[in-house]
Amino acid sequence: MQSLEHVTKLRSLVAEWRSQNQTIGFVPTMGSLHAGHCSLVANARASCDRVVVSIFVNPTQFSADEDYADYPRTTDSDRQVLIKSGVDALFLPRVEDLYPNGTGRTTMVSIPGLNNELCGAHRDGHFDGVLTVVNKMLNILTPHALFLGEKDFQQLFMVRQMVSELMIPVEVIGVPTYREADGLAMSSRNQYLTVAERPKANSLYHSLCAIAQSLRSGNNDFTTLENQAMTTLNNLGFVSDYVEIRRQYDLARAEPMDKELVVLGAARLDKTRLIDNILVSR
Ligand code: PAF
Repeated sequence: MQSLEHVTKLRSLVAEWRSQNQTIGFVPTMGSLHAGHCSLVANARASCDRVVVSIFVNPTQFSADEDYADYPRTTDSDRQVLIKSGVDALFLPRVEDLYPNGTGRTTMVSIPGLNNELCGAHRDGHFDGVLTVVNKMLNILTPHALFLGEKDFQQLFMVRQMVSELMIPVEVIGVPTYREADGLAMSSRNQYLTVAERPKANSLYHSLCAIAQSLRSGNNDFTTLENQAMTTLNNLGFVSDYVEIRRQYDLARAEPMDKELVVLGAARLDKTRLIDNILVSR
């Protein structure tokens, strides 16, 4: 596996692969890799000739009160994981490579409205940062396929929208959420959970599953279902950001006649912010 820090070197490598008609799959990450990331890589490996993974803790997607400084950085062990997973190239840019004019007065990509809903309502500027960095990486790498986890459903939805509206020639592939045995969605931030918090961390998943079950059996009282789940979580010691039932295809609030739904939730257990979602077809 080649490790590259410089944009120009990565561009040359990709140009060489493209000149040999090889397809390129790209998995963007912030490192601190776990089995969920390995599943993204395995999907890319299965369908592309070459696989590139980036590790970049992107400052513009963290608001001032978030964990940018503390975000786990484990590049050496991540590198071993990626070698074992058969990755061809690891892209490790520095902040100044991706934001040559700094992160303040810089071009940003934004989807007005959606950027302030759901997780965006609780993470100021988060999705502008995500879209901007993913757009930069796609411009650098020009991959054929981009692999993102379905756990971050809103992120996946917004990246798909950006790719479509900015006419970026890449296929966006959503990979199902990878879970611990008790249902907890895998996330780099799970390592913030204390021993006391860990056993109840899967309650977010189970609350969303309970709503999904109720929706499948015809319940259309969305507001009551959402409020009940948040109350249950808060009684267990979480601080719920939101639990919402939305439509899969446009992420608008669901109506009773809608058939393809997604139940999304985010809740904090002290320092750890957990997110999850369940797809419902009925
Ligand atoms: O999901 C993530 O890890 C990040 O938001 C991403 C897509 C790598 C952009 O920084």
